[in-house]
Amino acid sequence: MLDTIRWTGSAVELLDQTQLPVRTVYVTISDQRQMHDAIRRLVVRGAPVIGVSAAFGAYLGIRNAANDSIKQRLSEVCDYLGTSRPTAVNLSWALKRIKDVGGRADARDVKRVVLGECLKMLEEDAQCCRAIGEHGAAMLRSLRRGGDNDEPLNVLTHCNAGSCVAVRWGTALAPIYVGIEQGLRFHVYADETRPLMQGSRITAYELQQNDVPVTVLCDNMAASLMDRGKLDCVIVGADRIAANGDVANKIGTLGVAILARHFHIPFFVAAPTSTIDLATATGADIPIEHRDAKEVTCPLGAVQAAPDGVDVFNPAFDVTPAQMVGAIITEKGVIRPPYLEALKRSLSS
Ligand code: MRU
Repeated sequence: MLDTIRWTGSAVELLDQTQLPVRTVYVTISDQRQMHDAIRRLVVRGAPVIGVSAAFGAYLGIRNAANDSIKQRLSEVCDYLGTSRPTAVNLSWALKRIKDVGGRADARDVKRVVLGECLKMLEEDAQCCRAIGEHGAAMLRSLRRGGDNDEPLNVLTHCNAGSCVAVRWGTALAPIYVGIEQGLRFHVYADETRPLMQGSRITAYELQQNDVPVTVLCDNMAASLMDRGKLDCVIVGADRIAANGDVANKIGTLGVAILARHFHIPFFVAAPTSTIDLATATGADIPIEHRDAKEVTCPLGAVQAAPDGVDVFNPAFDVTPAQMVGAIITEKGVIRPPYLEALKRSLSS
């Protein structure tokens, strides 16, 4: 698996996900402005890894600060990085954690403590996604009970929630990677995921690199695929899960969930508990990022696909209501509805 983020000892290296699948290149990030820009431009993307990246951005922003102003500086840098993208709560979760740990430390120790916390987050993120994979694989195995064990499980996913969104393993694809290690077989259908094509560019790329059978389809083909009885389940990631279980994820996820319900196909969400936001009551309270019209009118900067000056609707995320979500796979286990109490319990355990 490719490293999504690396700490060199003096800078951060990010896999430039805007270049996939054509080029596998890393960009070096040396200060908080470069990190803000990398998150905003989706050089690094996906909820868990933008949290870890922002944390390192905070360290880069304080590493030259004087001790007498370091806590004030940490607070300013965290606030600044928090403005890079609004929807994935992992970003503010990670920055709060960094601010808290730095705020508690003696001024002389802030830099050391903050860097230590960043490195801890790197380690934890990989372990967390591995645990999501273990719980998810066990759940997927149970879909096979009584069925034909020789046939692969056919799974549809939307956007990219694989190893590129985390330090390792990913979220929605983690059960597939771990399941394969355990002898399960899969065929993954990857929605291309307009307008930025994270499904066809990144999900298909990483699955191909890992020898997992994958078929790409345009977003408007999912209904046809389901109608042909091709799918065993849908698994997607999440950018924020509200207290009632409503799930914000990449634009188009809601449509997939509605289709899955129509065709009686189980719809699952995989996410670390850091994506659960009990302070946000319902999906209606989740801030949704709207992005540049050019992403739609000139897809991937390649070809003009709409007339100049046309009005464009380009939300980057939508919200799937909790009642459409069959289960939420976390590092602590599989959470089933009703979500309000179950999510609270999972965060306090
Ligand atoms: O705009 P992106 O590419 O950052 O959106 C990413 C997604 O919507 C993923 O599905 C989401 O972050 C879940 S992966 C943990």
